[in-house]
Amino acid sequence: MFITFEGTEGSGKSLQARRLVERLRERGQSVLATREPGGTPLGDQLRELVLLRDDLGVGARAEALLMCASRAQHVERVIRPALERGEIVVCDRFSDSTLVYQGAGRGLDTATLVSVISFATAGLQPELTVLLDLPVEIGLARKHPHEDWNRFEAETRDFHQRVRDAYQALARAEPRRWVCFDGRKPAAELADEIWQRVAAQMEL
Ligand code: TYD
Repeated sequence: MFITFEGTEGSGKSLQARRLVERLRERGQSVLATREPGGTPLGDQLRELVLLRDDLGVGARAEALLMCASRAQHVERVIRPALERGEIVVCDRFSDSTLVYQGAGRGLDTATLVSVISFATAGLQPELTVLLDLPVEIGLARKHPHEDWNRFEAETRDFHQRVRDAYQALARAEPRRWVCFDGRKPAAELADEIWQRVAAQMEL
């Protein structure tokens, strides 16, 4: 079972991904918890370059390819082997982040991104994607300016609104894979809702 978490800045997805991993482990499930960009030594180096280095002038196409290079290594070296061992993989962001941030956000062509992503992942797709949706102002206001800063937080409100709209469109287009939650709800309530949905799907 391959589960991904997606959402705009400050949506609380990383916290919810951790909560789900804890609950699955409490039930005795073997879980690999990981994130993108990152998840491998190469991916962690690319993460630093693409998120933190404001001085490199990384362009949109290079940004998309760096995200996908991190993902290619991650899928080949970490995610597929874990799935083959029968583990549940919970990943904080995956291919959909590239579609919405580099596609809707940066304006790169979606069809091209779909084929670059498919090359990077060798076709691997999540079985369930949890979307934490909330108004962009609320998410951005939750961020602490000096903590966890990344280049995307400096983007305009319009950029983040395009990202949110694109997530909603992806979720509507593929309702069997996506499940959308209201990111404004208290964390404990959300954790319960997400757990119920995952437990039902996995028949736990
Ligand atoms: P993340 O560490 O999840 O940060 P946050 O929890 O603050 O959202 O993600 C880092 C940033 O990387 C986030 O702003 C979205 C961006 N991103 C992309 O633009 N494309 C991608 O393919 C991925 C995986 C992330």
